[in-house]
Amino acid sequence: MLRAFLYDVCECKGEWKMDSFIDTTVEQIRAQVGDKGVVLGLSGGVDSSVAAALISKAIGKQLTCVFVDQGLMRKDEGDFVENTFTKLFDMNFVRINCQDEFLSKLKGVSDPEDKRKIIGTEFYNVFWNKIRESYGSGFFAQGTIYPDRIESGKGDAAKIKTHHNQVGVPEDIKFEDIIEPLKDLFKDEVRAVGEKLGLPHDLVWRQPFPGPGLGVRVIGEVTAERVRILQEADAILRDEMDKCGYADKMSQFFAVLPGVKTVGVMGDARTYSELVAIRAVTTDDFMTADWAKIPYDILGKVSNRIINEVTHVNRVVYDITSKPPGTVEWE
Ligand code: XMP
Repeated sequence: MLRAFLYDVCECKGEWKMDSFIDTTVEQIRAQVGDKGVVLGLSGGVDSSVAAALISKAIGKQLTCVFVDQGLMRKDEGDFVENTFTKLFDMNFVRINCQDEFLSKLKGVSDPEDKRKIIGTEFYNVFWNKIRESYGSGFFAQGTIYPDRIESGKGDAAKIKTHHNQVGVPEDIKFEDIIEPLKDLFKDEVRAVGEKLGLPHDLVWRQPFPGPGLGVRVIGEVTAERVRILQEADAILRDEMDKCGYADKMSQFFAVLPGVKTVGVMGDARTYSELVAIRAVTTDDFMTADWAKIPYDILGKVSNRIINEVTHVNRVVYDITSKPPGTVEWE
């Protein structure tokens, strides 16, 4: 019935296949770009990574990916992104290491909204200054996907939010055009394209990660030492979840550093150290979410390892708040 409706009434042909999408898009990009350059802001998230891989297949070194490493990613993630794109794909890869600049802007700031604003503004300035300096012509590419356009008010859809995948271009920078090769795809299709293009599984199936990164998971003031503690604890959590095969049962999980110190005992000595919280949720759309029912023995292992392996942590708690009333992120 549905088939007859689609084929006979709507005159669909059923010719859309992943391979043909890749081939057609590659041809379109080549035709549009000619011998000009394309610059793309790579965040290391699924969408911008798949867009980068696709454009690289089309035009190789005419593509420049600019990756801003603000020091607020998960442990070793900046290196992972750099290795992936420099080793697997043909492109110019530019990594801007600006951890110190971000930390100095965040010094003494503990209000969540102020932190978000500072991180967002700093990112915008660093990224566009680099483009102005070296790549401010040719084409600009973005990893916009179909739901981003809906959320940003395509056609008659209500404007819910301006999505982070669509970065505003400053007025003084004039590109010939914007290229958005994934603009008609849903997330699962984007992941399928990523797999076909040979992106690593960890990148294609990456969990959502907030734009301000660990800046909103280190509660209160963000310092280099507190980011390090959180990265270590979070890496242990990920490692244990991968080992026990529980990672795929959850939509998102991560560690949080709430900025609370508690008294403990280690050997015969009193400790007064940081608390780490574990957050893990299951959800279909992130508008609502359930806290994940991780078995106690897995939680126990994670807790033991964090306390034994991460200096300055002496207590681990598990967040059992659903959304609503909690949000997924703590800030
Ligand atoms: P909340 O905390 O609002 O999170 O329940 C819902 C989902 O959105 C992610 N999130 C963000 N993603 N920029 C992003 O790109 C942000 O500022 C941001 N804040 C939250 C969060 O990780 C969760 O998946």
